[in-house]
Amino acid sequence: MTTTRRDFLVTGAASVCLAAAAAPTLAAVSTPRTRRLRIAHLTDIHLQPELEAARGFAACLAHVQTRPAVIDGDVADSSPPDLIITGGDTIMDAFEADMARTKLQWELWRKVKADHCGMEMHSVVGNHDVWGWARGKAGTTGTEPLYGKRWVCDEFGRELPYTSFDRGGWHLVLLDSVFPNEQSYIGRLDDAQWDWLERDLAAVDPATPVIIFSHIPILSATPLAVAGPTSPEVGSIQIPGGRIHVDGDRFQKLFTRQRNIKACASGHMHLVEQLDYQGVRYLCNGAVSAGWWKGLNRGTDFGYAVVDLFDDGTVERRYIPYGWTAAT
Ligand SMILES: [Fe+2]
Repeated sequence: MTTTRRDFLVTGAASVCLAAAAAPTLAAVSTPRTRRLRIAHLTDIHLQPELEAARGFAACLAHVQTRPAVIDGDVADSSPPDLIITGGDTIMDAFEADMARTKLQWELWRKVKADHCGMEMHSVVGNHDVWGWARGKAGTTGTEPLYGKRWVCDEFGRELPYTSFDRGGWHLVLLDSVFPNEQSYIGRLDDAQWDWLERDLAAVDPATPVIIFSHIPILSATPLAVAGPTSPEVGSIQIPGGRIHVDGDRFQKLFTRQRNIKACASGHMHLVEQLDYQGVRYLCNGAVSAGWWKGLNRGTDFGYAVVDLFDDGTVERRYIPYGWTAAT
């Protein structure tokens, strides 16, 4: 590992203290952090037969698996990711789509994955992955065996839309942000998932750092950045509950109790953001589809995030454009 300027400064400071301090202190201070896990976070793929989206997603997967990612400040580190996590909105849309259109999109997902992905992959559920909740538009009744999240859970090979696992000395949690609201949705966990999450985290060793992936951001400034114009008389900004988790306060209380939760990574907004708040790093990680395959989204390129997790509980993220341009 190359010595960075930061490491040099830390080591230098420790050297100054050498006369007054015992040798174990020097070792403790000067030990550089070690990367334990590198994740490629591919969110908001919105796979569809149109706009050459399948070719674009294949190009993204090729980039992840073959192009070196450089990250961590001034240290060049080109090792490939250990695994891929997809961040939701896997397919263009099942929420308002009929069965035939939804089937077509999932078949395309399976084909591109089989043909172009040789890496371990875990997937988060996004609002567009849920089938037929907009019953008026989708023509669903709510009684179909694959209605709602059943279809996407089957595609992801899971019984439930949320899960967790351990890897590289970290605990990874994949949440389901999508909560029904009339024939639409808002961002929050249902009671069963809250029970599961609190039990899941309570079972984690407090020395083990945790990263949470959700489709909708748990905390983000991006909804403010895209807030529509408000009349001066109103004097406030309204943020729709579909843009950000409405149970954010419950998450903050949980994070105050469980200090080993180090980062939350999301998608949904198709924007890139890093926000550090009370010891937790919140990352909104752009979109593979940028502006739904038609071009950039408010300047955000077609891309994916490389998320590095270190043994000291720190997290670094780099957003990587994979060189795609919209079909003309
Ligand atoms: Fe999306």
